[in-house]
Amino acid sequence: MDKETFEAVDRFVGETVAPDDEALLAAVESATAAGLPEIQVSPPQGKLLHLLARSIGSKRILEFGTLGGYSTIWLARALPPDGKLLSLEAKDAYAEVARTSIDRAGLGELVEVRLGPALETLGALEDEGVEPFDLVFIDADKVNTPNYFTWSLDHVRPGALIVADNVVRGGTLADEHSNDLSAEAQRQLHHLLADESRVEATTIQTVGSKGHDGFTLALVDG
Ligand SMILES: C[S@@+](CC[C@H](N)C(=O)[O-])C[C@H]1O[C@@H](n2cnc3c(N)ncnc32)[C@H](O)[C@@H]1O
Repeated sequence: MDKETFEAVDRFVGETVAPDDEALLAAVESATAAGLPEIQVSPPQGKLLHLLARSIGSKRILEFGTLGGYSTIWLARALPPDGKLLSLEAKDAYAEVARTSIDRAGLGELVEVRLGPALETLGALEDEGVEPFDLVFIDADKVNTPNYFTWSLDHVRPGALIVADNVVRGGTLADEHSNDLSAEAQRQLHHLLADESRVEATTIQTVGSKGHDGFTLALVDG
């Protein structure tokens, strides 16, 4: 099997059960026009995030890594009218593009895009006494995935889901000799998960338009 086949399957799934609507297409177009990298989740992955958020009745979602707001829109659409999604983004220009796309999708009331390096923003959230989240999606700088996971674990409700993207990294997750820091961070995440009694977790490898990668899903028992 080759990349062309993986992409064809993603297209088929996108055209049948996980279609982009006008707002999602516009979000991708605006991001491309503004020169943002095309590293958002694929439509089938966006739909998966949406279904996960809905399946646990999420009212409060935290996202690490907004980019142009594509995954943010999928996730925010799972929220009830009194829900809230907080998305953390380091780059001002990206946050601006995202806010415009999120407003155009009619989700501006539900979503806050908070600008700044996420680790710093987490400190501010502590000071604000932030309420627990129901779902966390970790998709920012990959070296910090274990840090974001550890913080999230202390700021979610029992029964919450923590999802981390890009953990397989073309298979380097399993290569102890790889000196890629992002892959090393994903190995560290897995050791953390294995030692953490509060979570049950697994990682699913994926192929598709985004190559060979995968998600980690962690259910927080409380
Ligand atoms: C893979 S992209 C996010 C894609 C987005 N979740 C989606 O699927 O539509 C990663 C994003 O994380 C942001 N980022 C990188 N380092 C960050 C940090 N330290 N704090 C917050 N955001 C960061 C990048 O600027 C980029 O927009």
